[in-house]
Amino acid sequence: MLDWEELERQCLSCQKCGLAETRHHVVFGTGPRDAEVMCIGEGPGEHEDLQGLPFVGRGGQLLDEMLELIDLSRDKNVYIANMVKCRPPHNRDPLNTEQDACIGYLRNQVALIRPKIIICLGRISAIRLIKPDFKITKEHGQWFEKSGVHMTALFHPAAILRDPSRRPDTFVDLKGIQAKIREVCTHTYR
Ligand code: URA
Repeated sequence: MLDWEELERQCLSCQKCGLAETRHHVVFGTGPRDAEVMCIGEGPGEHEDLQGLPFVGRGGQLLDEMLELIDLSRDKNVYIANMVKCRPPHNRDPLNTEQDACIGYLRNQVALIRPKIIICLGRISAIRLIKPDFKITKEHGQWFEKSGVHMTALFHPAAILRDPSRRPDTFVDLKGIQAKIREVCTHTYR
């Protein structure tokens, strides 16, 4: 396992897959490095690629609003990262080969942060991190435990923007996350 400085250095100069050819910035991740809660998205979009920060487009604004409902923010108590650190062209889903090349960076981030709770944003990260047959429409908001980490998935903010009928379910899921934080976290709401 690498320390933060070396991990970020290697990640920012990564050439392990073809996405390195087309990226403007590597999107490493953001938030306090002692966060008890991590959110993990799919991969950077256009705005993220241009700014080098995760979830800064319209979906990102919605994500910040969702987190704020349960007193979470990237400035205070949640770390936000993605499955792949470079933008897939035209926002296509990251290929398995790209995910395989990149997942080590995320695993190292998780090992350094040691979160109590991981929130997968959308099906791509839930399939990879929770279980291969994860069904987001049926299993969003449910809890899974892996190596002592409590894991759940929300609809991806971009999917909520496309289909606002997912909002009420997402509100219930957020309340479930709030309850889980109260149960297992020690300093998130301090
Ligand atoms: N969608 C994601 O999954 N991640 C981002 O950083 C932005 C949009």
